[in-house]
Amino acid sequence: MDDLRQKYIDLVASAPDESALEDLRVQAVGKKGEISLKMRELGRMTPQERQVAGPALNALKDEINAALAAKKAALADAALDERLKGEWLDVTLPGRTRRHGTIHPVSQVTEEVTAIFADMGFSVAEGPQIDSDWYNFDALNIPGHHPARAEMDTFYMARAEGDNRPPHVLRTHTSPVQIRHMEQHGAPCRIIAPGRVYRADYDQTHTPMFHQVEGLAIDRDISMANLKWVLEEFFTAFFGTKVITRFRASHFPFVEPGAEIDIQCSFEGGTVKVGEGDDWLEVLGSGMVHPKVLQAANVDPDQWQGFAFGMGIDRIAMLKYGIPDLRAFFESDLRWLRHYGFSALDVPTLHGGVSR
Ligand code: DAH
Repeated sequence: MDDLRQKYIDLVASAPDESALEDLRVQAVGKKGEISLKMRELGRMTPQERQVAGPALNALKDEINAALAAKKAALADAALDERLKGEWLDVTLPGRTRRHGTIHPVSQVTEEVTAIFADMGFSVAEGPQIDSDWYNFDALNIPGHHPARAEMDTFYMARAEGDNRPPHVLRTHTSPVQIRHMEQHGAPCRIIAPGRVYRADYDQTHTPMFHQVEGLAIDRDISMANLKWVLEEFFTAFFGTKVITRFRASHFPFVEPGAEIDIQCSFEGGTVKVGEGDDWLEVLGSGMVHPKVLQAANVDPDQWQGFAFGMGIDRIAMLKYGIPDLRAFFESDLRWLRHYGFSALDVPTLHGGVSR
């Protein structure tokens, strides 16, 4: 019996895993196990022999069962230790941050422009991007035969077969918002109207969709002098440096007189710097609103007058932030957006300044 004990105690101690342990259990104390068979022999013994062998065999069985249970627990502990080594997790590590999206330069600059004009008492008006040809052209004193219509590279919408009304257009400029606003609110008024406009044109400085901001100020005695002050005030705040303007006589059907406005700049060293140097850069069209335009919007030109202007937002964004190619604005290239984009927390202020 001592041999039997030693044999199983040794085997249990060296069992490599749970299944080997289970095999040993069957082999020793299972129904047909070695110890169970020995217990069956008790029946053939004399009562005296049985009195000695019985308790001894029971004790041996208990001892082996206890060894099996202890080894089983030890194996489970070792397995858990092994797993914990592999699955170790440092809960003190900082969390993984998610990449933030960025604000597109056009959105940022639109906000900047809005903030500056709002400070001068202008509110924001909007109009539809698909408009009738009346709002886009006729009401702005551009009749059907006028060359300005042909020059605009207009996108026309389709009409149903047999519908002979003139087709709607993708607005070619933000100027129709002048008409819509005055129709609804009359005079006096002071608004800007930023938004998307469309022309069939595509190269390094033209995309079929781009952005303009229209300005309109109507009152009883508004003059070109007010226009000049407002624009210089605007450009100085926008570029964060004193900017002077040059007015050049020009023609737009919806103003009289009309002017193209240049801002002072230098082209030295291959980069444009606004607010210094002897060169000029054209940035917008403007003038005194034509009496016919006021009439089209039911505003009496004998009582009211004022200025209007239209400026390219993408253009001034490129200038302020040194962005070379307009087309990249609308290519949705993530690397470009991350480079030129603005933090969402970077709220535009009145004098947002030139540096980022
Ligand atoms: N609508 C013109 C364009 O897109 C720009 C413009 C010029 C707007 C003169 C005006 C203005 O309000 O007075 O080319």
